[in-house]
Amino acid sequence: MSYESEFERARGDAEAFWMDQAAAIAWRKKPAGAQSTDDNGVTRWFADGELNTAELCLDRHVDEGRGDQVALIYDSPVTRTKATFTYRELRDEVARVAGGLAALGVGKGDRVVIYLPMVPEAAISMLACARLGAIHSVVFGGFAARELATRIDDAQPRVVICATCGIEFDRVIPYKPLVDEALSMASHTVEHCVVLQRPQHPAPLGDRDVDWGAMLAAAVPAEPVTVTGSDPLYILYTSGTTGKPKGVVRDNGGHAVALHYSMGAIYGAEPGDVYWAASDVGWVVGHSYIVYAPLLYGCTTILFEGKPVRTPDAGTFWRVISEYGVRIFFTAPTAFRAIRKEDPQANLIGDYDLSSLEMLFVAGERTDPPTYHWLEETLKVPVIDHWWQTETGWPMAANPMGIEAHPTKAGSASFPVPGYDIRILGPDGDELPAGTEGDVAVRLPLPPGTLPTVWGDHARYDRSYMQAHPGYYQTGDGGFIDKNGYLFIMGRTDDVINVAGHRLSTGEMEEIVAGHPAVAECAVIGIEDAEKGQIPLALALLKDGVNVPAEALQSELVALVRRDIGAFANFKRVLVVPRLPKTRSGKILRQVMRKIADAQPYDPPATIDDPVILDEIADAMRSGNVGLISTSGA
Ligand code: COA
Ligand code: AMP
Repeated sequence: MSYESEFERARGDAEAFWMDQAAAIAWRKKPAGAQSTDDNGVTRWFADGELNTAELCLDRHVDEGRGDQVALIYDSPVTRTKATFTYRELRDEVARVAGGLAALGVGKGDRVVIYLPMVPEAAISMLACARLGAIHSVVFGGFAARELATRIDDAQPRVVICATCGIEFDRVIPYKPLVDEALSMASHTVEHCVVLQRPQHPAPLGDRDVDWGAMLAAAVPAEPVTVTGSDPLYILYTSGTTGKPKGVVRDNGGHAVALHYSMGAIYGAEPGDVYWAASDVGWVVGHSYIVYAPLLYGCTTILFEGKPVRTPDAGTFWRVISEYGVRIFFTAPTAFRAIRKEDPQANLIGDYDLSSLEMLFVAGERTDPPTYHWLEETLKVPVIDHWWQTETGWPMAANPMGIEAHPTKAGSASFPVPGYDIRILGPDGDELPAGTEGDVAVRLPLPPGTLPTVWGDHARYDRSYMQAHPGYYQTGDGGFIDKNGYLFIMGRTDDVINVAGHRLSTGEMEEIVAGHPAVAECAVIGIEDAEKGQIPLALALLKDGVNVPAEALQSELVALVRRDIGAFANFKRVLVVPRLPKTRSGKILRQVMRKIADAQPYDPPATIDDPVILDEIADAMRSGNVGLISTSGA
């Protein structure tokens, strides 16, 4: 089978193509057809099928003889702990947690917010919700209380599940005070907070709290609950252009079919493989490729609690690959930039046998060619850059390793995945010729597994994704397709930035900066950073008559963003400027400022601490020289 024939079949006869893929799933009731249209006019997949996603991930494998295979490996250098769960053990644990949650009143359609570090209980909680037909919403453990509160108010959960702490390198980060603060900030009242006591930081429990261990001890295992293909499995909040995150909704049926398909077609996986995605369950990569896809496919997945460096050293990834015989590895390029900085010659690899490793997948941000080449030379396996978003839940473009492997090209995510009809559009919606950069859009309908709506706000779905180019899903990324059909993603065209593989909204940071009493106006832009890819830089215009030392203002604003968003935003620099470049109608020209920052002749790229780039931006602002920079696309 060739990639081209598979792609054309998915495009030409989507109904038959996806019904074929759906046949690989053990439905409780098979869907009569693949596509239907919901009340919002959105194409839904397998809406009349019936299933339970947790059952597909666990019970089915036990029934089919995989009960003794390891389903999940927990490896935590930060706590010096390792554990394994067979498919049978994981099923039983998930059933008990589901029973415990049911006893707290959680049922089909109820929301549960999960705020946990990278511990097995995170995956177990997600699967327990799925088992009950409840809708989980996992919040990344690096988010501050205010962010957690915003998500609680939007998702309106019955229960929050948290731990007493997370661990960052050797630092214990207490979670409980943060969760309590979020619960008191939120207007929505949560009935129970289930708390996992971690030995690194036990915490006293309050009236609303339920001890995880006690909940489990009293629990009666729960059976999987039948849901329809279009019932929501989870909500995952992601940054948009404003301060309010978007609740991306994922359904059960399309998600199970698409993820199952992706494991074979894109990743070239076989059931039984050890598949490792080094990400966090708080991000979409963690949802799809730490938890759901490897388990749907009968693989062994690894949940790693640590960092690529200093836990204990830059050889930690190589140790995990060799120790567990990882065949397919997936992580963000930023992780390798961190490793390369510490161990440029990759000397630490020498300590390990990496012969099991056959493929490396990278995503989450652009892979810079030096990192790409370093990886190829170091690991001597195909390095596959692939492109996707929280909204899609699985890759839109990749080298389809399970269908037909193609040569890779540095900087390219290769080809559209079957199901995604990717086009490059100009400002008027016209399709652009090969090699010309424009908006990367996907012709509707989107394939199974992609978002059908934004939680509680379908108008926002239309506004954010469907209006720019009618008939297409607007990805928010810019890029081009070369004459050989390779797709190159060049970066966001909106106010979203990507910091160390973390998606952040500059609009949200601007709201925080603008809230400071000394600041009249501000703009936050992403500028290049050698290690993190991008980092935020705030340009602030002070109110008339205000005379705050720039250093003091910077520390106050840095503290505010850490308090309100989290440290992972890497918000560290503020530049006081005499004016901000604007259009005649008063719109701030962020793209102009980005171009000023990006156009600096530095090689290798400057870091935020490089005084040259900061001075040049400041000079350009001061001299009003911004008019010399092209404003196209601003
Ligand atoms: N909880 C609390 N704090 C966190 C956190 C968490 N889960 N994650 C990060 N932070 C903190 C860090 O401790 C650091 O704090 P500091 O400023 O006080 O030192 C700060 O946020 C910056 O974090 P980060 O930029 O992430 O750097 P790092 O050195 O902690 O980690 C990477 C580097 C590369 C390991 C990490 O950024 C990463 O895993 N990125 C990939 C993300 C990803 O998986 N994306 C999905 C696509 S695959
Ligand atoms: P998230 O929703 O957090 O997964 O972030 C999605 C965004 O990350 C995309 O819109 C892109 O801007 C960026 N991204 C993800 N994968 C890639 C990739 N392989 N190459 C370039 N950018 C990427």
